[in-house]
Amino acid sequence: MRHFLVTGLILMCVGCANVQQSPEASLYQRIGGKPMLTRLSNQTLDIVSKDPRTSHSFEGVKMSTLKQSLADFLCVKTGGDCIYEGETMKNAHKESQISMAEYEIMVDVLRQRMDQNGVGTSEKNQLLKILAPMKRDVVTR
Ligand code: HEM
Repeated sequence: MRHFLVTGLILMCVGCANVQQSPEASLYQRIGGKPMLTRLSNQTLDIVSKDPRTSHSFEGVKMSTLKQSLADFLCVKTGGDCIYEGETMKNAHKESQISMAEYEIMVDVLRQRMDQNGVGTSEKNQLLKILAPMKRDVVTR
């Protein structure tokens, strides 16, 4: 009887661990998967491509393609099962002459979009930490 009870309890725990998000869930899963990354990419790029402080970099750029590419990039970087076929960060930005101020505006917009869309603080900080070292490849002036 006791044996069955213990086995039952163990099975219940295995079950609930599967239902709830396990602590080992990838950042991709915790942040809300491809739908959330697509939303963050679309909203961030809509804002920075219209903001007069950053818009000049996006002149002549096909925004729908860039939005998809950024979503795929974020998917791969957060541990999602996506394929990113774009350029390296260095190659993608070398023509654009992006300043430190422009870079900071874009990261700030992304941070605000994550807040607005209800991304958790630890997920937000984890993504920003992943993006931080890319500054040296994106900022070229
Ligand atoms: C951490 C910050 C950034 C990340 C992760 C990022 C990511 C990307 C990605 C994934 C692409 C697509 C590359 C491809 O498909 O080959 C891209 C392209 C581009 N990015 Fe960024 N970017 C960042 C910051 C910025 C900033 C600050 C600006 C300008 C204000 C900018 C402007 C552009 C432009 C204009 C392109 C398109 C280049 C082209 O198609 O010729 N990016 N970026």
